[in-house]
Amino acid sequence: MIKKTTIDEIIQINLKLNELLSFLLNRNKNEELLKFQVLQRRILKTLNQINNSKLNIEEKIYLYKSIKDSLSGNQVKSKFNIIDFVNQNNIYLGNVYFCCGWLGTFVIFFEEEKYKRIINIDKDKRIKKISEDINRDLIIKDWKYKHLVEDIINLNYVDDKLKLNRFDGTEIEINFSPDTIINTSCEHLNNFDDWINSIPKEKLLILQSNNNDSFEDHINISSSLEEFKKKIKLKKIIYENTIKLNDCERYTVIGYK
Ligand SMILES: C[S@@+](CC[C@H](N)C(=O)[O-])C[C@H]1O[C@@H](n2cnc3c(N)ncnc32)[C@H](O)[C@@H]1O
Repeated sequence: MIKKTTIDEIIQINLKLNELLSFLLNRNKNEELLKFQVLQRRILKTLNQINNSKLNIEEKIYLYKSIKDSLSGNQVKSKFNIIDFVNQNNIYLGNVYFCCGWLGTFVIFFEEEKYKRIINIDKDKRIKKISEDINRDLIIKDWKYKHLVEDIINLNYVDDKLKLNRFDGTEIEINFSPDTIINTSCEHLNNFDDWINSIPKEKLLILQSNNNDSFEDHINISSSLEEFKKKIKLKKIIYENTIKLNDCERYTVIGYK
């Protein structure tokens, strides 16, 4: 039998999916609506898999909450700010490290010709399976998307060797040189200066942070767009923006180191 707390979470996720659908309907782009159908199908399948898994109730609730939070209105507005910039401009991302990319919930909305491969790196090993289940349609296209459990401070941003898992669980080592580094979770990094200094010059950086100090793990907030720009020290900024969200401001900066 499904527990009531679990049912509540699943209902909330469906409400968030409905909100995402109405956001996309207002944008009126057929391509995005088709992608929504894929995302929705994958998320519903994932919910079913979590429910039927051997995880205990706390572990299940953690995963449900992660899916729900990743679909929040604030997340939708923030992620589509970047997606729109990339899709609407003459810009090619090449190989991408999506640092601290969580569930990779909105990756599907990047136009596929805008990048070669996106590797999502997140240190939370509990979410890897969901990230790869949600993005399975990209994985089966010659690994347009993959997820790696790692601390982003340990990556080599010049020329990396990554151990990735195939669907059958076997491991393969690949060489990976990122052209673009995305990090929409800069407020979460405790060693931000070390991390930003480890990225070589001329890489394209797509970064977001916020001024929301109400979460314990927001240990590197910026109180303004100007403060965020000072921290990231880009040589050439091609886009910057402040979005007013329900409870905070979200800062986006895109440019070259
Ligand atoms: C909970 S999400 C928050 C989402 C973020 N505000 C956004 O809009 O993308 C933050 C993620 O960053 C990950 N994270 C934090 N520090 C990290 C690090 N040093 N290396 C890899 N992942 C990290 C956490 O595991 C978590 O999944």
